[in-house]
Amino acid sequence: MVAADVRDLADRLCPHLGCHSLRVESRGHGAYAVITLLASDPLAGVYTLPRGPITGPVLLARDEEAQDVTADLYTMPHTIASGQTGSGKSSFGYSLLAQAAERAKAGEPIRIAGVDPSSVTLRPFAGTAHAEHISLGLKDPARIERTLDRLVTDLDNRLEAMPIASDILPITDEHPLTLIVLEEWPATLRALDALDKKVAARVRGHVARLLAEARKVRMMVFMLVQRPEANLIGGAERAQLGLRLSFRSDSVESVRLLHSDADPAMAAGHSTALPGVALMSAVGRGLTRVRAPWLPYADYVRRVGGAAA
Ligand SMILES: Nc1ncnc2c1ncn2[C@@H]1O[C@H](COP(=O)(O)OP(=O)(O)OP(=O)(O)O)[C@@H](O)[C@H]1O
Ligand SMILES: [Mg+2]
Repeated sequence: MVAADVRDLADRLCPHLGCHSLRVESRGHGAYAVITLLASDPLAGVYTLPRGPITGPVLLARDEEAQDVTADLYTMPHTIASGQTGSGKSSFGYSLLAQAAERAKAGEPIRIAGVDPSSVTLRPFAGTAHAEHISLGLKDPARIERTLDRLVTDLDNRLEAMPIASDILPITDEHPLTLIVLEEWPATLRALDALDKKVAARVRGHVARLLAEARKVRMMVFMLVQRPEANLIGGAERAQLGLRLSFRSDSVESVRLLHSDADPAMAAGHSTALPGVALMSAVGRGLTRVRAPWLPYADYVRRVGGAAA
């Protein structure tokens, strides 16, 4: 047995050991492990986003072993956060976007773009130097389409600017890292379908292109959804989303759509997850249970530093 085997068996071992969960730490060259019996859920307590500006990699979450889960913002894959209402998706977004905004304010080439039907997530960026192509609200479908049109035009310009000898576009002030936030995306698509089917079809096409081609030209899609519905986000789109977080989810199927490796007991247990607790899958990293950092909304607005601050 290796440490990973013990981790996999933890749910079956814990009832017999009288503990909530196990912390399994490999030692040496995997020759032995230190196993700690945890009396309570290590993710039960709120984990506040440290004061900024946070330099180095961006802080995504903290895992059950109290280790920070981080990523390089400039090479992060397209990302999806899924979960029922009140499960903590937008708050996860606040902590990520606050970190991006602070870097942009410090002069890093980072822009925030996107579509936000309720406006709450992207409103703090209105009027800031680091915002571009933002559409708030749902009243005007043409505006949403225009926003995505511009993003796809930017994509095409960047593809043309790709150096012959490279498969990735260097980040410059002209071609900054662009974070494209798609808040409440299935709800937005559903509303567009009802308002104007042709616009909805074009918007879907644009997002499919961004997911397929934008990463190598430093444009990163961050999609937030209550459920990763197969009819609204197809398999091709899901496959492009390399970093996936599922906050509290109502069904085992929802969890397994984003984390095919989640065993049924883990997926079922996730229906009662606390706000901010998520299952996370990333390329090159197995399924991990994590807690997203907590950043109260007023602090988010202040750290983004827009007109509303
Ligand atoms: N990381 C966290 N730590 C502690 N509490 C949290 C965390 N994330 C969210 N919460 C709590 O849950 C509430 C709802 O979170 P949030 O608005 O992010 O949910 P949501 O998934 O975006 O919901 P909706 O789909 O309705 O927009 C927050 O106001 C806060 O009280
Ligand atoms: Mg939300």
